[in-house]
Amino acid sequence: MQNTAAPVITIDGPGGVGKGTVAHLLSKRLNWHVLDSGAIYRVVAFAAEKATISVDDCDGLLKLVNGLKPTFSTDNEGVMHVFLNKEDITARIRDPHIGTAASQLSVYPAIRTALLACQRQFCQPKGLVADGRDMGTVVFPDAQLKIFLDASPEARAIRRHRQLLQQAIDVTLKDVFAQIIERDERDRSRAVAPLRPAKDAVIIDTTLLSVDEVFAQVVLQWDLRQMQVLS
Ligand code: DC
Repeated sequence: MQNTAAPVITIDGPGGVGKGTVAHLLSKRLNWHVLDSGAIYRVVAFAAEKATISVDDCDGLLKLVNGLKPTFSTDNEGVMHVFLNKEDITARIRDPHIGTAASQLSVYPAIRTALLACQRQFCQPKGLVADGRDMGTVVFPDAQLKIFLDASPEARAIRRHRQLLQQAIDVTLKDVFAQIIERDERDRSRAVAPLRPAKDAVIIDTTLLSVDEVFAQVVLQWDLRQMQVLS
């Protein structure tokens, strides 16, 4: 299942909590690979839209997933880029409507299973920082450290709204907040791999913390974990 030669740190949590930012900083600090698993669900949503396959059509989506050959590369800044048929779709999959479709199609167990191998192949030496919803519970259950980041929906909406404006995606804070609430409900209540902390996860409430403070806590948790291994 997991490449035992390579350690894994998982960072799970709801949308807009800052998982991606922390995973990125941590992978740069450790010089490890990074997996943005949400991007994989977003690629499926993007490809489905292009092929006019509805998010209600599980069989159609599954056929699409089985034929899909996305490729990934990490740039000098450590950002994971996603390519489909040689086109860099990294920015295009960030559109909020693609996020909503990704959340809708991620409820199907068969699709989740079909995407497991693609996610696990990111686990390569020297190590992997994986962010998502079920990294610690399903995809990398043997991870050396599992972090679950949480924050109030209001704080997450404000952060996500800022991020989208920086990417020149024009949405209102009200709409972003409504999407966060809707997405939380769907991601937490789905039958398979719902959003929840693994039993052995360290939970960090980031509502009142800056990115630097969250990052410092995660690094400390990793240092502590290594001390436990040594003792
Ligand atoms: O993290 P994100 O916003 O890019 O994720 C988009 C959707 O993909 C999310 O709402 C649910 C789904 N997803 C998932 O089901 N499991 C993951 N590990 C990552 C994302």
